[in-house]
Amino acid sequence: MRYKRKYFEQQISKEVELLEKESRFSMTRDFIQHGEVSVFVHCVCVAYLSCCIMRFFNIKANLGALILGALLHDYFLYDWHDGELCRKVHGFTHPFKACNNAKEDINLSPLEENIIKRHMFPLVPIPPRYRESWIVCLADKICACEETFIGHCKGKKMEFAEKMFEKGKITSD
Ligand SMILES: [Fe+2]
Ligand SMILES: [Fe+2]
Repeated sequence: MRYKRKYFEQQISKEVELLEKESRFSMTRDFIQHGEVSVFVHCVCVAYLSCCIMRFFNIKANLGALILGALLHDYFLYDWHDGELCRKVHGFTHPFKACNNAKEDINLSPLEENIIKRHMFPLVPIPPRYRESWIVCLADKICACEETFIGHCKGKKMEFAEKMFEKGKITSD
């Protein structure tokens, strides 16, 4: 099924709202990922781009798992720029930390776990098992490159992520 952009925007928005109520997801607002982009905005951008990739290539995928896995792929919940010695291996260890944190808060399917744990392939040299995990792995690389080289993600995904960021701020005030 080829989803309309509006439909997956609604699904991401619903999932973010649910996670902000039922998990520690709002903590990702306070941590920086790359450049000046928060982990929250990065994860929403990765979820958005994952949906775009699925749609563009007409890939049959589990949309709910794709969105949830993408939103939680960097759910490590610490500042990885804080200079602590253990941060030197952040690139290798954070997918597992993210998965453990997520499992403390909500139930994950094996597919969602795989999306989170394998998103750092090939740095963590175990390849993703499912097509959803490959999509998130690719979307994460694209977003990370944009954030590192131009300071933020480009286009509609960034506009959407910033809107989500502002919306959550208003409801939590
Ligand atoms: Fe990551
Ligand atoms: Fe990421």
